[in-house]
Amino acid sequence: MECKINGEIHAFEAASGLSAAQLVREQLRLTGTKTVCGQGVCGACTVLLDGVPVLSCLLAADQLNGKSVTTVEAFSDDTLHPVQKSFMANDALQCGYCTPGFVMRGIAFYEKWKAEKQSGMPDREALKAAFSGNLCRCGAYEGLLRAMEEACLGKFDSPEFVFDYPRVEAQEKVTGAALFTSDVSLPRQMTGIIIRSTLPHARILNCDLEAARAFPGVGAVIALYDPEDPILRYVGQEICALAATNKAVAKQAAALIQPKLEALPFVTDPFEAASVKSPEIYSGKSARKVPNAAEGVIFPGKWKHNTRKHIVNLLSVKPIQAYFRLKRAAKGKHRSLVRETFTTAAQIHTPLEPHCCVAHWEGEDKLRVFLSTQACHWSAREIARLFKLKSENVKVTANHVGGGFGSKLDLETEAIAAIKLAKIAGNPVKVALSRAEEMLVGGYRPPTRISLSLAGDQNKKKLKALSVKAETFSGVGISSLVGSMFRLIYPGMPKIIEELDVVSNLSSAKPFRGPSAPQASWAMEQAVDAMALQLGMNPLEARMRWDLNKIRHNLFLEVEKLELWQERKETGTASGRFRTGIGMASGNWFNFFHPKTKVKVALSAKGISVTTATQDMGTGSRSVLAVTVGAIFGVSPAAVKVYIGNSNSVQGPTSGGSRTTNSLYITAKEAAMEVKEMLGQHIREKFGTAIDSFTEGGIQTDDGFHSWQDLFVKIPALSATATRGHNAPLNILSHLPLGADDVAMGPSNLGSVFVVQVQVDTLLGKVKVEKVWGGIASGKIIVPELAKSQCYGGIIQGISYALYEERIVDHKLGKPMNTNLEDYHIAGIGDMPEIELFFHEGGFESHKGGAAGLGEISTIPVAAAVGNAVFNATGSMPVDLPLTLSRISSLLSR
Ligand code: FES
Repeated sequence: MECKINGEIHAFEAASGLSAAQLVREQLRLTGTKTVCGQGVCGACTVLLDGVPVLSCLLAADQLNGKSVTTVEAFSDDTLHPVQKSFMANDALQCGYCTPGFVMRGIAFYEKWKAEKQSGMPDREALKAAFSGNLCRCGAYEGLLRAMEEACLGKFDSPEFVFDYPRVEAQEKVTGAALFTSDVSLPRQMTGIIIRSTLPHARILNCDLEAARAFPGVGAVIALYDPEDPILRYVGQEICALAATNKAVAKQAAALIQPKLEALPFVTDPFEAASVKSPEIYSGKSARKVPNAAEGVIFPGKWKHNTRKHIVNLLSVKPIQAYFRLKRAAKGKHRSLVRETFTTAAQIHTPLEPHCCVAHWEGEDKLRVFLSTQACHWSAREIARLFKLKSENVKVTANHVGGGFGSKLDLETEAIAAIKLAKIAGNPVKVALSRAEEMLVGGYRPPTRISLSLAGDQNKKKLKALSVKAETFSGVGISSLVGSMFRLIYPGMPKIIEELDVVSNLSSAKPFRGPSAPQASWAMEQAVDAMALQLGMNPLEARMRWDLNKIRHNLFLEVEKLELWQERKETGTASGRFRTGIGMASGNWFNFFHPKTKVKVALSAKGISVTTATQDMGTGSRSVLAVTVGAIFGVSPAAVKVYIGNSNSVQGPTSGGSRTTNSLYITAKEAAMEVKEMLGQHIREKFGTAIDSFTEGGIQTDDGFHSWQDLFVKIPALSATATRGHNAPLNILSHLPLGADDVAMGPSNLGSVFVVQVQVDTLLGKVKVEKVWGGIASGKIIVPELAKSQCYGGIIQGISYALYEERIVDHKLGKPMNTNLEDYHIAGIGDMPEIELFFHEGGFESHKGGAAGLGEISTIPVAAAVGNAVFNATGSMPVDLPLTLSRISSLLSR
């Protein structure tokens, strides 16, 4: 067969069985085209076929015969399309994994628009309809819509147009040049696959790997289960792995592995699992190997059957007082008293780039690992420890990371398997989770049941007592921290906090963007609104009185001025089929940072560079470094070369928990200042002159202007490495050990307030989020455009959590059923509301550098604010997430 690809004729042997996406990615190495869902749902594989956008994962390669295919690589650096420029200028991307698909769809839209209309701007509804087949898990939709509006307006049509863009690696991402781990292809690379349990609970009696080992094309086969505890506790648990010359061979060989399993009784319904009559998941020694589903320390706890209870007194505050106050409120039928049970569903992380690893032994004791990770430095340390290697002999590369949201913080089995297989096979091995595997074992925010009692005082001045029983259902994992979040929020009142993990036969949950906080916010913020209503108070007035977080009060003052808030009507007064509701909720998160973060800044003949072993999964780490260092030297961020994603560089921070930017910013600034000082000293000593000012082109000294190019060849290479260190004055919290990853906690907590407007269709039970105002006490903002993008993404993920996301488990079969993007629905561009953001930058002066974070607090209270808006529209408080059609219908019939 023959077809034209990006203008060149290519001849192929009949490519039966291959999709067009596989053909361009695997045979032509045009890896800009991504494959994510494999079902035509996400649009990441969009290419143009004779100028028309098509989903190349659904198109058989044979169907390309005689056709012309255009992939994103056709629009490379020299020939950027106006749509690409507009994407860059409007920051229509974050991690960049979906970006080539959006670019191709955008180019097709733009060309049609120009052909039909010549000029003008498409309306948002038309754009939303055109892009409804493309998904972006990072939620870059606001930038995408703006980018398409400006591109169609012709703002980027002129080749001479000078455009500025905030994300320094944007060009790599819009051209498909950005290399993700899933794109890595090394010479002699083999494909590794993992053979998993199909039973929810079983004992491995025997697992013969010899037939697979002897299969032609197989390089290695390894067992992954623990022979001392040969129990499989969930569908998807790893049994063994193999590496072969290609996927087809690997699958044939895998079919020869038929582990002999003894099925055991199982339980996946957490409410049943809590009963002592249910099958026990862990017993004896095995209870010590329970996975940690949270980010950080495991609090001490006591097991009873499948339930593990955290030691109460660590979290409770004056529990006896709380008990009696609540008892009195109940006895006296105090109108402030709220008693309710709330539930939340499992939210699957769904990064568009799956968990993926390529391992390559470069000698007996030297290992190169490409890893889709949120922690390249920490992963290298872990690998060195596990494989008993010198740390300098392990290099982990995470050049670009296609989303993680907490699911890629740990070193996972795909990495361990790839490393072991590569060692035996003597060849590099790639192990990438399929989409079904990603949805099955890649991670999820755990579902919860939260039973809560909240009492206020007669004169409405404060909250008097809280009692919470937080049950978290992390599958085989434990240590979710929902109860701990109740300790953090609305401090100052007596609290009884009971924290329980109930384990069951499902894969372990993992930390997800603000782990445990959205669930706590969902329950607490609705209870606060319910109490306010019972006391005849406005929810804002109630929070202003009851919330002791001083920084957040600045945000409440902003809400008071908001037209959106002033339009809010009394709860339950809306009528008619379509009812508008406005609700608010607060978010809380910790002020984490990495005191051991190091950043190296250097001046040399190659220019200005900044280096650290961190990674950028769309969170903007590259830009934070470039902007910070550029500002010190008076040059544009584009003039600063950023080297990250390599574990062999100086220690950098993990990307997670809002701890990256506040660790990087001040450290990069200090290193740059030191180099600047060194430069000044050198010029004084060598040339006897002083620096007056730094500019984009060079420096001005007493004796005239010296361009950077000139200076770089005249001066010796200069560099400095700074370490972030602790805050001054030292606070006790910042020295608490918070897990293995050198994390510390700063003095002030982060806060946010969200106001949401929804429209509830009372006939169909549909909720549409129309407007969102987000007030965020973020500390110092380093790159405003990227900070906004992070928040837009957090908001759309929160809306998605509120309205759609729910992993469905068949408790009879003991396994999740919606393990694909068709059946597991996440918010798309059509769900994007109007958003206004307000950043309050003060309040973190005692936190070194003054930057705090916003990745978590921009998503934590969103679902709760949606819930309160629905409460306002309908007069009934929703208690269960997500707000499905049936739940809204039953809410309306109350
Ligand atoms: Fe779209 Fe990350 S930028 S998935």
